[in-house]
Amino acid sequence: MDEQSMPHEKGLDNTVHVLKEGYRYILNRRKSFQSDVFETRLLGQKAFCIGGEAAAELFYDTTKFKRAGAAPKRVQKTLFGETGVQTLDGEEHLHRKEMFMSLMSPEKLDKMDKILKKQWEATAEKWAEQDEIVLYHEAQEVLFRTACEWAGVPFEEREVAELAADLGKMIETPAEIGPAHWIGRHDRNQTEKWMENLIEQVRDKKLSPPEGTALAVFSWHQDLEGNLLDANTAAVEVLNIIRPIVAIAIYINFTALAVHEYPAAKEKLAAGDPKQLQAFVQEVRRFYPFFPFQGAIVKKDFTWQGYEFEEGTLTILDIYGTNHDPVLWKNPEVFDPERFMDWKESPFSFIPQGGGDFLGGHRCAGEWLTIKVMNTCLDYLANRMEYEVPQQDLSYSLDKMPSIPHSEMILKNIRMKN
Ligand code: HEM
Repeated sequence: MDEQSMPHEKGLDNTVHVLKEGYRYILNRRKSFQSDVFETRLLGQKAFCIGGEAAAELFYDTTKFKRAGAAPKRVQKTLFGETGVQTLDGEEHLHRKEMFMSLMSPEKLDKMDKILKKQWEATAEKWAEQDEIVLYHEAQEVLFRTACEWAGVPFEEREVAELAADLGKMIETPAEIGPAHWIGRHDRNQTEKWMENLIEQVRDKKLSPPEGTALAVFSWHQDLEGNLLDANTAAVEVLNIIRPIVAIAIYINFTALAVHEYPAAKEKLAAGDPKQLQAFVQEVRRFYPFFPFQGAIVKKDFTWQGYEFEEGTLTILDIYGTNHDPVLWKNPEVFDPERFMDWKESPFSFIPQGGGDFLGGHRCAGEWLTIKVMNTCLDYLANRMEYEVPQQDLSYSLDKMPSIPHSEMILKNIRMKN
């Protein structure tokens, strides 16, 4: 195909439109340009925005894109630290990613699930004594306890509420510009110090986390040259386990919302059929907003669909928009778990946690874990607990990133069923 000029959004800098239109920024322009690729200017630089299945396949081709330098500093400083696996490429990335994936064996995930059930049920006893709870904060604490126990990280009971909320803020703030971002940054410094201190205690043999847990594995992990990671990098990586597990609270909120708002879909879960539970979880991950976009940098010049991609240009993949792409999903704005009952899996059409390959690429290391946690929590919310959902503001915004139901899901009169 001959080279052609790419659809182009006018304006010196369009970051303000991203902030205004949020999750739908790329999808809106893909519709108006009738194109899965367009050029714009974001955060003071030229950027290509791409979306759809073929675009996702392109984006995860590591011969074409790299990650070093892709994330804005403000996102690195809050969301994932400056030396984490997300910023690595090639052999170094593969070696570090293997360290993460070694934690995700079926046995280790089953162990995590057992801890989660224990923590959920213990906490549910306390819920039964309260008039009402805010599910988001409660889920953050349950997940924080689960994550720490599973990762071999000790914590003081009196620290739970604060640490869980701090980790939550690291996720709630990165896309915001202004004071909220600075809080996120402060919390990262504090939590990194807390974790660095634990890594040092492990290395000084003052603390011995159980073998095979994240704290043990990451404390003693050697890089390609046979050196231990510096304490800060090891801390960043343990937090790359703890923090996103706490973040699953956002999906649990949306799961509870879906159980409440789609009674016909909930009905189908009553028999506890794992296939139905899984389909519901997948639809929650497709339908509701979480990660909006993902960035990478063009490694060297290439042409795609007749358009030229120049080396060094920031390229942004539309995660939310690909999951809502009418070419890929029939009635994408309808919540319908049935679509996943006979879904033909593709690593590039359904990408709430990134696409492509786990080891060879940057697909989320915690995707299986997330799905398992959501299945367990869905079963509790739909089948194993009784509660009321009082009048509250259950709406959520597609403009604000990340998004969550405004009331954070207040539940009343909670009882575990026998
Ligand atoms: C990467 C989403 C949970 C660990 C990612 C990426 C996304 C994502 C979009 C980037 C993919 C890319 O770079 O192309 C999510 C969502 C979650 C979640 C929506 C729901 C809460 C988790 C969990 C863990 C985890 C529970 C760990 C236990 C990671 C790691 C990476 C990553 C380590 C970096 C992978 C790499 O760069 O190779 N996640 N994630 N995430 N996620 Fe998750």
